[in-house]
Amino acid sequence: MKLKFGDIQETALIPLAIKASETSRPNARIRDVKAKEIIDSLGVDVSKYDPFLSHEGVIARTIMFRDQLKALLKKYPDALCVNLGCGFDDKFTQVDNGRVQWYDVDLPDQIAVRRKVYSDRERCKMLPGSALESEWTKQLPKAKMYIIVMEGVLEYFTKDQVKTCLNMLCDSFPHGYLVGELHSPFLEKHGKHHDAVKHTNATFGWGTKSGREYLALEPRMKLLSEHSFNEEMKKYTLGGKFFSVIGKNINNRIAVFKW
Ligand SMILES: C[S@@+](CC[C@H](N)C(=O)[O-])C[C@H]1O[C@@H](n2cnc3c(N)ncnc32)[C@H](O)[C@@H]1O
Repeated sequence: MKLKFGDIQETALIPLAIKASETSRPNARIRDVKAKEIIDSLGVDVSKYDPFLSHEGVIARTIMFRDQLKALLKKYPDALCVNLGCGFDDKFTQVDNGRVQWYDVDLPDQIAVRRKVYSDRERCKMLPGSALESEWTKQLPKAKMYIIVMEGVLEYFTKDQVKTCLNMLCDSFPHGYLVGELHSPFLEKHGKHHDAVKHTNATFGWGTKSGREYLALEPRMKLLSEHSFNEEMKKYTLGGKFFSVIGKNINNRIAVFKW
């Protein structure tokens, strides 16, 4: 079955369009063959979803999430990893160590369209489920360690929804890591001007200055680390370097929590 433009939620189209365009560049910093295949198959111009700052931000976060996950998988090679709110992301391919058990989880309608372009693989399966309820977690096999990835998802949740999600994770998994993308109060307030998201109907949810603000919502979690995407973004372009100065406290962050 072929994917149509309208099948892809606009917020999921942004990282997909960016990863596809980067993959086509001569010195691509990341390669995402699946993103390119999907975007090429749509046959429409998606360049408005690929402005400079969003491009650099998505590339930085892709590299930072990949490296963080690889480090965790070195420590726990047999972990069960859940890409919660996976959209069309193919992170499994970037980090597969030959042993991890991977689940790509998203809302049922999103998993239905994902199935048009992905098939289940031996250690990488798709599962419909919501970050705001726990029913789907009962279908997962038991594991010694659980790693939950939420890239580009928590930014769209209200504070109450973030709390529901964190409580659900701690209730459902005896222990684990959450590798999540967090955004600032600035973006919550001014998100309608975001260079790519302004082309969508999405609005940003609760922004935080620090991941420590999550701990009040779920005291079982500890914050292990938190890094601004600026740290990666400033390595590549003058514009990225400039933004890392003027947007010092504005850029999104990768935070690692443990419980
Ligand atoms: C901006 S996309 C990010 C997709 C992917 N993580 C990436 O980085 O390419 C946001 C995704 O979150 C999913 N999402 C929104 N609310 C959700 C929920 N309550 N539970 C699970 N996924 C959700 C959407 O369906 C969408 O696929």
